[in-house]
Amino acid sequence: MRMVDLIHKKRSGSALLQEEIDFIIQGYTQGDIPDYQMSALLMAVYFRGMTSEEISHLTMSMANSGDRIDLSEINGVKVDKHSTGGVGDKISLIVAPIAAYLGIPVAKMSGRGLGHTGGTIDKLESIAGFHIELSKEEFIRSVNTNKIAIVGQSGNLAPADKKIYALRDVTATVDSIPLIASSIMSKKIASGADAIVLDVKMGSGAFMKTVEDARVLAQTMVSIGKSLGRHTIAMITDMEQPLGREIGNANEVRESIDVLRGTGDHDLTEVAISVAAYMALLGKVYSSFEEAHAAVKEIIQNGRALDTFRIFIANQGGNPDIVDHPELLPTAAHHIEVLAKSDGFVQQIEAEQIGIAAMLLGAGRAKKEDPIDYSVGITLNKKIGDAVQSGQSICTLHANRQNVQDVIDLIHGAYIIADAKPVPAQLIYDVIM
Ligand code: URA
Repeated sequence: MRMVDLIHKKRSGSALLQEEIDFIIQGYTQGDIPDYQMSALLMAVYFRGMTSEEISHLTMSMANSGDRIDLSEINGVKVDKHSTGGVGDKISLIVAPIAAYLGIPVAKMSGRGLGHTGGTIDKLESIAGFHIELSKEEFIRSVNTNKIAIVGQSGNLAPADKKIYALRDVTATVDSIPLIASSIMSKKIASGADAIVLDVKMGSGAFMKTVEDARVLAQTMVSIGKSLGRHTIAMITDMEQPLGREIGNANEVRESIDVLRGTGDHDLTEVAISVAAYMALLGKVYSSFEEAHAAVKEIIQNGRALDTFRIFIANQGGNPDIVDHPELLPTAAHHIEVLAKSDGFVQQIEAEQIGIAAMLLGAGRAKKEDPIDYSVGITLNKKIGDAVQSGQSICTLHANRQNVQDVIDLIHGAYIIADAKPVPAQLIYDVIM
């Protein structure tokens, strides 16, 4: 086989066969196929798309390119949850202890944040002492005993995806539905999940800017899951504005505790309840979504999963007292209000710009190797639909530097304030199963 012929085949719109996809993925992972040929193939896929068979083969080929985590020693249906990435998205921190409380084994591998989006692992590391590395034995023992462990992704999990993702980033081929779907699903398959709840974000802060595109991505991932024997449900949820009120690592842990205590914001709580309910459905704890939803709602209202959260933190070396004393989490030196420049209603909050503003404060990384500051972040005091008067605070910046004019300018650009009260955004646009 020659790569040039396969590029030509894809460029002409024909479907690649399983052995051809395996040849490409193995060759590229081992360094036998150069970046320039892989770039040409990615661009051909970008324009020509892939059939569902090609996407399944690509997913499996990337999943098999490195370690496959064997979770068979963990009892029960292992249900994973994955978000396509957003700003202020702390849903995993909330739903993992709820699912564990319900008896669903949560054996989760999570990633770090990059660019304007955050990552669960960074949020957990804002808890003093918390470590994200467990040996395989510790990981399995923790899940069998406590029903929950969250670790960083093994360096050799789907290495083909890692290499291809870096190339997509510099060849304008990230936002291709077959490539995103196979990238996400290859990591979920390699990390050993039996069933998967996908939270596909839609809106200004997400890869998918329209419900139609989000629906195609969701359907593509659900059918990959089905074809590979993993029961998969995909929810399409709103990312037209950041999720919840807090952005930044320690800030998001604090807000997650509020939700688990039953005192969180309605929108964030509602999305978390639905994600946890679908996990409970896939974990076969309940036989209907309505039953699962009512049970999870009650768990949140009674704060019952907080104990599971404490046990989980302590088991991984963190200080569980942060649950009752969130002031023990890292706190920034300066709290600076960003004031509205006009009266009206908040029409729009560009989530990506808010994510970049938090990154500039030090909450995220522009490059993979950048250090992060767990204590900094942004609290949104006004969200879409809220009335605001000139001079009122729209956001509070938690900063460790005094001159934050660059961040204030970004925030003013991200908030659109106008006279008319907007129609409230939907929280969940669709669920594909
Ligand atoms: N997240 C991934 O893991 N891969 C993509 O391609 C996009 C988002």
